[in-house]
Amino acid sequence: MSDSQGMNKNGSYVDQPGADEEDIVNPWEVSTHSAKGVDYDKLITRFGSTKIDDALIQRIEKATGKPVHHLLRRGIFFSQRDMEMILDVYEKKQPFYLYTGRGPSSEAMHMGHLIPFIFTKWLQDTFDVPLVIQLTDDEKFLWKDLTLDETNHLAFENAKDIIACGFDVEKTFIFSDLDFLTNSPAFYRTICRIQKLVTYNQVKGIFGFSDSDSIGKISFPAIQAAPSFSCMFPEIFSGRTDIPCLIPCAIDQDPYFRMTRDVAPRMGCLKPALLHSTFFPALQGAQTKMSASDPNSSIFVTDTDKQIKEKINKYAFSGGGATVEEHKATGGNCEIDVSYQYLTFFMEDDKRLEEIRKTYASGELMTGSLKMELIEILQKLVGEHRQRRAEVTDDMVRQFMKPRKLKYDYPPVESKK
Ligand code: TRP
Repeated sequence: MSDSQGMNKNGSYVDQPGADEEDIVNPWEVSTHSAKGVDYDKLITRFGSTKIDDALIQRIEKATGKPVHHLLRRGIFFSQRDMEMILDVYEKKQPFYLYTGRGPSSEAMHMGHLIPFIFTKWLQDTFDVPLVIQLTDDEKFLWKDLTLDETNHLAFENAKDIIACGFDVEKTFIFSDLDFLTNSPAFYRTICRIQKLVTYNQVKGIFGFSDSDSIGKISFPAIQAAPSFSCMFPEIFSGRTDIPCLIPCAIDQDPYFRMTRDVAPRMGCLKPALLHSTFFPALQGAQTKMSASDPNSSIFVTDTDKQIKEKINKYAFSGGGATVEEHKATGGNCEIDVSYQYLTFFMEDDKRLEEIRKTYASGELMTGSLKMELIEILQKLVGEHRQRRAEVTDDMVRQFMKPRKLKYDYPPVESKK
């Protein structure tokens, strides 16, 4: 497994947007011609990451003494880099930390946005480690038609939805780039060290930037890379620069971290480890894109019970037969059925899910009943989220966003770099 797999001889990645007929997967675009969605096995080969296999899952279960989260068990988190290193560290009772983030481009968050946070919450509970969450209001200012005040405000509002996922304030630091950069010398210093090591040619190769992209965009990847290094958070890690980082994220964010892993050894830093997820499909099917501006493309955390019911019934793409007779004769296709896909994300009960899969595929279970089960689960999840979100005050957000030491102690190490 090498990070340089897929690189051409200039050190850039050949996996450029639009380079061929293959699926397009980068931080700004995800598209495929297949109704089944992106070919994730091919993506692993192209990106040079490693498939999460049964042996790794068993090792996680053995190390933690707990069954793994269903998102891991069901292959929704399907790819990794250096997870073995994190388990080595954990088994030796040495520290590591978690890093994830969100680009605050809209107030409306949909269920797909919550997936990495739901999983990260499980990781935090299971491994009992610090977590840093980056809100890239600077990124969204650079890329979208939004003012700095708007993206900064969205960061604050999105933080409430993130906090509502249940994170522990004693273990979690949430920061907006715009706010934290102005009072953290270590943040800017880490960025400068990264910027010095990446050429324009390399970012062009990795991200597909063109000569007409703003220099803000071109320098942004260093800002997303920086939190992968513990030296960026002297408040949390007492100046320790040797604490390894694990990043749970959707696989479209991988280009940032290929770049990060490439520069890490030259900075005398550890490469961050990664756990990659697949994408959450739009209601209309894995081929179409969910968009925060199209309320019918997904279930939003603000949807009412009635909206959830109507959207699933009306818009969730069905893999079932066109008529009852046809469905009974040929059965449903779970691979393209969005309601079934959503159940794999949200139904916890493995046995029931397997029963649904079998009976739907055989034609015994109708699309309407399948949708009903999904509607109930979503109404419950969204309802609980709505309640927790309402309890998050501005003051709580400020507590999470205050640069500070967390509940973990980091005694200095003598032979460190
Ligand atoms: N660029 C990400 C987005 O647009 C936000 C982000 C920043 C992020 N740092 C991250 C996502 C680390 C995952 C992991 O959503």
